[in-house]
Parts: sequence; C-alpha cells; structure tokens
Amino acid sequence: ERKIISQFEMVGEETLHKIVDAFYKRVKLHPDLSPIFPDDLRETARKQKQFLTQFLGGPPLYTSEHGHPRLRMRHLAFPITPKRANAWLTCMSQAMDEVGFSGPIREEFFSRLVITAHHMVNTDDEYE
Ligand code: HEM
Repeated sequence: ERKIISQFEMVGEETLHKIVDAFYKRVKLHPDLSPIFPDDLRETARKQKQFLTQFLGGPPLYTSEHGHPRLRMRHLAFPITPKRANAWLTCMSQAMDEVGFSGPIREEFFSRLVITAHHMVNTDDEYE
C-alpha cells in the first residue's frame, strides 16, 4: 500500500506546536508586531496551531471550530504593512531555527508562509 504523506505528517504535530509557541514568544517581544497583538497570546497561538495544521494538509481543526479562515479578511482589522509582514516572517524563521526545524520540508513550509504573509499586506508602511 502506498500512502501520500501530508506536509503536516512530515512536520509532525509536536514540532508544529513548538514552532508556534516559539513564534509568539518572539511576536510578543517585537516592537513592530506586539502593538497590534493582544497581550495574552494563548488563544492566538491555539488558533494558529489549528490553522497551520490544516494549511499543511492535516485535519481541518481551524474550520471545524471557526468556519472558513478568510484570512485576508480577518486581518483587515489590523494595519498589516510590508514591514510587519517581514517582521512576521523573521519571527517565524527564528522560531524554526530555535526548534531545530530544517531541511526541504522547512523550505517548502516557509515559502508557502512567505506567499501568505505578503497576501495579508493591506496598508503601506508610510500610512501606518
Ligand atoms: C490572527 C497579525 C500573517 C494566520 C492575527 C491577529 C493579528 C495578526 C494582529 C489577531 C490576533 C488575535 O486577535 O488573537 C498578522 C501579521 C501578519 C500576519 C502582522 C504579517 C503578515 C499571518 C499569516 C498567517 C496568519 C501569514 C497564516 C499562515 C493567522 C490566524 C489568526 C491570525 C489563523 C487567527 C484568526 C482568528 O482570530 O480566528 N494575525 N498576521 N497570519 N493570523 Fe495573522
């Protein structure tokens, strides 16, 4: 029996959760990001674990609880500048480094996040 393995299975749930926790630890400390995030990031991290699980082809945890992600629309409430998109990606890359997540699966996952982060941009840097 051949089986197609999802990116979620390649990353692994434990590693994904570690990446998300390391990521929000950095978001909290980042001068460009922390002002637009809630003080308590536990619920944000919980939703992000659900979202990234399904983003990587795992079970649809986010949609089951919150409905269709409509991510760009959900981000319109926040000024997402190109500078913030880059800060978000830097925090994510450092989080991946911290947990020792590397290799082709990291490159594939991260490049999908680059596309998604740029898609979230809804405000120019100079208007922020
Ligand atoms: C929620 C910022 C990119 C996925 C949020 C929130 C902020 C934010 C401020 C609200 C947090 C809360 O109220 O709990 C940003 C910024 C980004 C970015 C500055 C830079 C480009 C992304 C990307 C993804 C993503 C690339 C997915 C790969 C989510 C999810 C939520 C969220 C799943 C929770 C939505 C919900 O409330 O149900 N983001 N985000 N974000 N973001 Fe982002």
